[in-house]
Amino acid sequence: MRKLLVWLTVAGLLIGVGTTGWAVDEDLAGTLEIVHWWTAGGEKEAMDALYEVFRARYPYVSLIDASISGGAGIAARAVLISRIVGGRPPGTFQVHAGAGTIDPYARPGFLEPITFIYEEEGWVDVFPEPLLEMLRFDGEYWNVPVNIHRSNVLWYNKGIFEEHGLEAPVSMGDFFRTADKLKAAGIIPLALGETWTVVHLLETVLLGVLSPSAYTGLWDGTTSWNTASVRLALDYFDRMLNYVNEDAPALSWDEASALVVSGDAAMNIMGDWAHGYFMAQGWTPGVEYGWAPTPGSAGAFQALSDTFVLPKDAPDRDVVIAWLRTVGTREGQDAFNPIKGSISARVDADRAVYDVYQESAMDDFAQDAIVPSLQHGAAASPEWMDDFISAVGSFVAHRSVDTLHRDLVSAAEEALE
Ligand code: GAL
Repeated sequence: MRKLLVWLTVAGLLIGVGTTGWAVDEDLAGTLEIVHWWTAGGEKEAMDALYEVFRARYPYVSLIDASISGGAGIAARAVLISRIVGGRPPGTFQVHAGAGTIDPYARPGFLEPITFIYEEEGWVDVFPEPLLEMLRFDGEYWNVPVNIHRSNVLWYNKGIFEEHGLEAPVSMGDFFRTADKLKAAGIIPLALGETWTVVHLLETVLLGVLSPSAYTGLWDGTTSWNTASVRLALDYFDRMLNYVNEDAPALSWDEASALVVSGDAAMNIMGDWAHGYFMAQGWTPGVEYGWAPTPGSAGAFQALSDTFVLPKDAPDRDVVIAWLRTVGTREGQDAFNPIKGSISARVDADRAVYDVYQESAMDDFAQDAIVPSLQHGAAASPEWMDDFISAVGSFVAHRSVDTLHRDLVSAAEEALE
């Protein structure tokens, strides 16, 4: 009998506490609607892994996965704003880290600050300072990061590169030499997609030409847009567009990445969610594909982070807080990021569960100059980003570098005035 009792207790503990060191919380019940935009290969699987961690702890909470497809949250942002302004916020939603991004939600009072959770969970000691800096707004924290993504990555099909005796381009000059060889061999040098992916390309070219501090200065007014260096970057950018697939405007980011997998294209410049996508296609990093900092940007890590928030008047507030706590845990992050392609937002991540690409990203994040991504919310306000997107969208049609430069100068003047 005693033996049986001991056995039952041990079994109960094992079931209750699980491998995460957490007790199962049977008292918390309710519903949590989560709005996010992770519907592509790698993204969806990563979110499922995070849900699993949450469900293991809170079995009586039902999760409503309210995903809105559209890379970079282009479609989700519009839906969210109208729901929030209309007084129908979801339990929580995905938003990029960045003071400019959080401002339009926090300032009008649509969010609750969550500094109290940061204090209770000790997050200021485990999230790295450059990330904490991106997250602070008006003296508070408003969102919990689930990852750190890098945007300035060039991905390449190793089979194609080996067959043609090519190496990952380091400089802009290398890029054009490599692209010419690929073009001559009948291979699309650079896979590209819809407008936001073109903006993504441009932000990496700006970083590749300017120094990290000069690039960062573009967003805070300390670097002028009206300079020969910006012009040079725009000229390179214009030239790069001569090496892309003709159907770029019709492709999503993952459809563009698929061209690299099929071998129709050799390279892709995309954030490291492309790493998650490649893995979801059965590719192994370092085997079928390689990576390098985008041309000219070695030593700089263009960073962004995905986060979740606590909307004011969110239904089932306790459940939302439980979700936010889960997102910030080591377990949650180490379940999500190895699949997503990003690195943990925590400095105490278990390196053993990350792969060779992610280990390189962790090392780079620790030693590189950290600079913000525009297209992914870390650098500027949504208005400035939208002006930028529309200038680049027009450029793809008119291809006048003069006009693009003028448009970007005036967008900056307007944003910084
Ligand atoms: C980014 C987001 C990434 C990834 C990508 C494509 O804005 O931060 O997590 O999902 O969009 O959808």
